[in-house]
Amino acid sequence: MSDDKKHLLDKLSEECTSCEKCDLCRGRHNVVFGIGSENADVMFIGEGPGEQEDLKGEPFVGKAGILLDKMLTAIDLDRHKNIYIANIVKCRPPQNRDPQPQEQEMCITWLRRQFSIINPKIIVCLGRIAAARIIKPDIRITKEHGKLFRKSGVIMMPVLHPAALLRNPSDKPAAFEDFLHLQDLIKEICPETYQL
Ligand code: URA
Repeated sequence: MSDDKKHLLDKLSEECTSCEKCDLCRGRHNVVFGIGSENADVMFIGEGPGEQEDLKGEPFVGKAGILLDKMLTAIDLDRHKNIYIANIVKCRPPQNRDPQPQEQEMCITWLRRQFSIINPKIIVCLGRIAAARIIKPDIRITKEHGKLFRKSGVIMMPVLHPAALLRNPSDKPAAFEDFLHLQDLIKEICPETYQL
């Protein structure tokens, strides 16, 4: 089962590497498909790759990623072990601008296919763009971060984007609270996460 999932995800990643469905493919060094365990019950979704991610081909490896890893470590989560991390768009938008609706529309099929292979129980949306796309278009991230939403049997939590926390460090305690609630939720819904 797990070998099947890994095989399917590897095949999907390979297919995604040659994607030319939108113009973002023109400026990319690497497609940033995703990282983590195919057996994860918890999936984190960001907005799109930045410069470092584009160069390395891995999500959240720049300054925001270092902060994200610290927050994950604090609640015993590890990108190489018990979660999966991906983005709404797989190629870097120029100058790190927001991905445009049609770019998101073109790219979301890859994410849907990642969801259907991994089949997570909890989805954490990192920032407004991911939360608006996945949870509800009119999300108010500053007011609604940490709230739980249920859609098609999956529990979804929007949280503040780590890059926003670097810009507004006074929001870090609130963001950390959300992560502590996430840890409780994982222990309740999918405790196996902590055995992976
Ligand atoms: N910001 C994101 O939303 N995703 C990344 O992969 C890196 C920074």
